[in-house]
Amino acid sequence: MNTKYIDLINQTYDFPQEEFTLKGDQLQFHDVDLMALVAQYGAPLKFTYLPKISENIQRAKQWFENSIKAQNYKGSYNYCYCTKSSHFKHVLHEATKNDIHIETSSAFDINIIENLKAEGKITDKTFVICNGFKREQYITNITRLINDGQENCIPIIDNYEELDLLSEGIKGDFKVGIRIASEEEPKFEFYTSRLGIGYKNIVPFYENQIKNNEKVELKMLHFFINTGMRDNAYYWNELLKCLKVYTRLKKICPTLDSLNIGGGFPIKNSLAFEYDYQYMVDEIINQIKITCEEEGVSVPHIFTEFGSFTVGESGGAIYEILYQKQQNDREKWNMINSSFITTLPDTWAISKRFIMMAINRWNDTYERVLLGGLTCDSDDYYNSEQNMNAIYLPRYKKEQPLYIGFFNTGAYQESIGGFGGLQHCLVPSPKHILIDKDKDGNCTTRLFSEQQTSEQLLGILGY
Ligand SMILES: Cc1ncc(COP(=O)(O)O)c(C=O)c1O
Repeated sequence: MNTKYIDLINQTYDFPQEEFTLKGDQLQFHDVDLMALVAQYGAPLKFTYLPKISENIQRAKQWFENSIKAQNYKGSYNYCYCTKSSHFKHVLHEATKNDIHIETSSAFDINIIENLKAEGKITDKTFVICNGFKREQYITNITRLINDGQENCIPIIDNYEELDLLSEGIKGDFKVGIRIASEEEPKFEFYTSRLGIGYKNIVPFYENQIKNNEKVELKMLHFFINTGMRDNAYYWNELLKCLKVYTRLKKICPTLDSLNIGGGFPIKNSLAFEYDYQYMVDEIINQIKITCEEEGVSVPHIFTEFGSFTVGESGGAIYEILYQKQQNDREKWNMINSSFITTLPDTWAISKRFIMMAINRWNDTYERVLLGGLTCDSDDYYNSEQNMNAIYLPRYKKEQPLYIGFFNTGAYQESIGGFGGLQHCLVPSPKHILIDKDKDGNCTTRLFSEQQTSEQLLGILGY
């Protein structure tokens, strides 16, 4: 009988994969020796493998380029990075190596843009797409950015008052976009997104507030589907509705020339993940082209704002199994030396699943376990993989430490988890390592942040 962990993985998945390989009985990620990382820095640790950010941006650009060429599409493609998925400087510095544009969602994002400009990472020509509900500070910051020469800054109007507020402060003419409030999937508890302006109100909004405003040029229509770009009836239906609004608006507003289809490319959340990105892009381009041809309007330039796709597959977390608690005949709880709630908050908040594997001891026999975090919260656990409904790991042995890795965790976890802030049960934030490749393709590592100390936590608490 094949009872080793390595057999289980081989029987369940197509393994090895491009980024996951084995060296002896230890897992490598993009040829990075994860046990060497543990030996050098200890666990728990989080890491960012920076080259994956550039790789994914280039992949997406290539898919769009292929489609645009194959379908003789007359518009351009513009890749924007959605900063809210990870605001870190190392992420933005890596992303901006790839001739990209930026999407922002709140006031302080503009300070990041100004910092990137000062460092020469972006220019006045870089598109800065400002989404989100705009309160005073955000309006002030956008106004300053535009007045300082960011000629391609496009605030996306999310509520009716924003236009007047921006017009008051911006000295010259400026461009805007309008966000369409998409209708949510039928299974949602609400029907229309609170974000943006309803389908029916877009054209009247343009007629009443933009058309005769000499300072303002409507350039972009924006829409974002919460559930992501999926090949299902809901997505295609929403895209079509949006395209109908685009073509109606284009007929009365010649300056409109761009369509922003938001973020939502999925990432690999299981070793069995399958998604045909090129097909999706081909079909999106095709739908846009057909609808525009039918309505006799020119096709728009296309913008996307991929967050997860840009940064998600660069991140990972490694924990040590501290101890096994056998609570009854069936439940073996492997306790990790950190917390799921605080370090991978989406696992707790929205039951998100990531790729999870043992880092070492692949030749050992496996057992079925549950994974528990260190906080006293009964919800601090992880109990199934994406398509297995259970977790299997090499058998716990007190004298042979077991390490496990969660992969493709690079988007949203730090900002939702409040990186560097107060943590549930004061379980400290783990150290964070940046991994890069040098000119010769050799792996380099450096410490980005140490594990949180008691002094830092007590300082936050006012002691
Ligand atoms: C307006 C907008 N654009 C882009 C994104 C990024 O989405 P994703 O990370 O799924 O690519 C989001 C995410 O919430 C969003 O609200």
